[in-house]
Amino acid sequence: MQQDPKVHISATTESLAVFARDWLVELICQHRSKHSPPHSTPFTIALSGGSTPKRLYQLLGELPVGTIDWSRVLLVWGDERNVPQEHSDSNYRMVKESLLDKIEIPEENVIAVPNAGQSPEAAADAYESLLRGRLPNGQVRFPALDCVLLGMGDDVHTASLFPETAALKDQTRLVVANHVPQLACWRITLTAPFLNAARNVAFLLSGSSKQTALARVWHGPFEPDKYPAQLIRPVSGQLWYLIDQAARGDIPLKQPA
Ligand code: 6PG
Repeated sequence: MQQDPKVHISATTESLAVFARDWLVELICQHRSKHSPPHSTPFTIALSGGSTPKRLYQLLGELPVGTIDWSRVLLVWGDERNVPQEHSDSNYRMVKESLLDKIEIPEENVIAVPNAGQSPEAAADAYESLLRGRLPNGQVRFPALDCVLLGMGDDVHTASLFPETAALKDQTRLVVANHVPQLACWRITLTAPFLNAARNVAFLLSGSSKQTALARVWHGPFEPDKYPAQLIRPVSGQLWYLIDQAARGDIPLKQPA
């Protein structure tokens, strides 16, 4: 049963990052209270790439030690550019510099896309196997992540699900390689059905450049090939829009279904 999206509007970019940090800490704490040792299932989160979440990741890295028990959190990536981890475009590198270098997290809890920068199909296959092997309930059709963070491009892409690309059609895999002609590049991305299996899916949007894309998702015709972020409809999880006022503009709020 799909739930109505929850929308939180922050006044500024910084207050949005602070809210998102506290929101995520709360999710993790709620999970910890439900999954106490010895049967402590880790909290699983797919991180967004791009620039918007950087400040959130920095704020998470600045939390007092012990606020989050990172030994009970598994980090995966919602998508990755097909470049080596040291490349300036790498989403792994962005997360490493803004978060991983500041926290104590077991190396095995950081589940990045392996061998990005070589064969994108091989990287996607390897990531699929890795996730199937490491995620709780990894062998079910679409394992439920506890949280997915997503951005949204001006062209209404999300993760690396870009308009009119093959990945939009995949209904069986967790991860695919996706050729993006608009960028003349390959990406590795989680698929829409895998993202939609998550318990919490949050779009984190900041800045006036997001207004048009957000309006299309909230009020535009349902044309997911053109507007892939419209594919994000958690099957039973909660969809969140964590946005700032600049991203909202004067767009009427999305009405409950
Ligand atoms: C990526 C992201 C992508 C991003 C949007 C928004 O790898 O770039 O996964 O989906 O979230 O393009 O990017 P900004 O946050 O930089 O606006």
